[in-house]
Amino acid sequence: MDIGTVLNTMRDPAGVPAHPVLFQALMVITWVLHIAFVHLTLGCAGLSIYAFHRRGRGAHWQRLSLTLTQVAKVGVSLLIVLGVAPLLFTQVIYDPQWYASNVLSGAWAIGFIFTLIVAYCSWFAFYYVNQPGARRHAGVYAWLALALFLLDGLIMHALSYQALLPGQWMGWYAPGGVVDTSGHALHAIQWPRYLFMIGLSLPAAGVFLLAYAQYCAVRTDIDAGYLAFARALGQRLATVGYAVCLVLLAAWQAVQPAGAGLALHPLALLLGASLLAMALWLRGRAPAVHGYRPLLGGLGVLALLAVWREVIRIHHLRPFGYDIATYPVHMDWPSTGLFFSTFIGVGGLVGGFYLALLYRAGRTAGLYTADRRLARLGSAAVAVLVLWIAVFFAYGIAIWVRNNFV
Ligand code: HEM
Repeated sequence: MDIGTVLNTMRDPAGVPAHPVLFQALMVITWVLHIAFVHLTLGCAGLSIYAFHRRGRGAHWQRLSLTLTQVAKVGVSLLIVLGVAPLLFTQVIYDPQWYASNVLSGAWAIGFIFTLIVAYCSWFAFYYVNQPGARRHAGVYAWLALALFLLDGLIMHALSYQALLPGQWMGWYAPGGVVDTSGHALHAIQWPRYLFMIGLSLPAAGVFLLAYAQYCAVRTDIDAGYLAFARALGQRLATVGYAVCLVLLAAWQAVQPAGAGLALHPLALLLGASLLAMALWLRGRAPAVHGYRPLLGGLGVLALLAVWREVIRIHHLRPFGYDIATYPVHMDWPSTGLFFSTFIGVGGLVGGFYLALLYRAGRTAGLYTADRRLARLGSAAVAVLVLWIAVFFAYGIAIWVRNNFV
């Protein structure tokens, strides 16, 4: 049996409950959010360690280190939560590839969870000890955490990349004809791709600092000199970071498989142009320009990257006859309806409430009191949650009754 047939046979016989392209779009969109927080976390973690070791050079470094330690702390929880969505969508349309890749490196897939737990605990330890007057060796917790976060990124990369190479699976599963079920190896790593993905953390920290300086500008209790310092550092980091990433992208393009038309693909060129444009724009950018725009530009770069990853995946799987458009569809309107109403209703209202609350509270010095509109939004968020839970249980109970008693 050829591997293409195996791939299509391993698909879920239940099919998918709506058109596969819908899941593909959702996978790409939600991955942008995941990777944005990966970059924010890694960039801020790295910069906070750097600032920690430079705190002797002035109060600004000290303050920056404390702030970024907190940003990275929150960032990890968001990158994990936001990683779940693309994980689910990948498993819906690329289930044969994702599961095969995970099983082939099973020890690493499980180890990923434990190393992430240790890394997060270690970052929390750093968060507690990173106070004014902390000893130098307190940085060890942070270094350990960062190293493990990077390892987790490498595991994620290998699992994603191995999934693109079905032609090599048999060789990994039974090297020399002897079956190896240990799952002890990461079989394929494309270093330029990994370094490019991780390298984007550098400009991410930069554009974050620009937005941070803008966000805090209304706070009279925050030293304007410190914010100017953060803005200048952010601008430098983002400019250099995007330029470095352009080089890393070129290195990645150089190792794309020959003859597949990927090396000079228009989308890759567009991605490269967007990196160059960001570097040039940020280099000449006046400090007065609104600090949120570079952040939006950065998200645009990530959107291009997300689509580019998907184009690469399609190119790799096409020769095996794998095309998501041929995935069997068993249209299920109630579950599709429930999904989108959850996405818009719960996600929009509850997420919107939290975002609005955090945005406003953070710009207020001292105690923040919500105005009537925000308080109403809070009540609506609680109401929609109660409604959601009621619908969830009613739907489940109705199906259970129908299957067992009718
Ligand atoms: C510190 C922790 C993490 C880091 C540094 C990280 C980093 C990355 C990177 C660099 C990629 C892109 C790999 C590539 O395309 O070569 C990626 C993809 C991905 N990550 Fe994460 N990640 C982390 C945690 C998580 C978690 C906890 C989840 C799930 C709950 C997750 C879900 C995903 C998914 C679904 C993909 C895309 C897989 C695919 O398209 O096949 N990640 N991650």
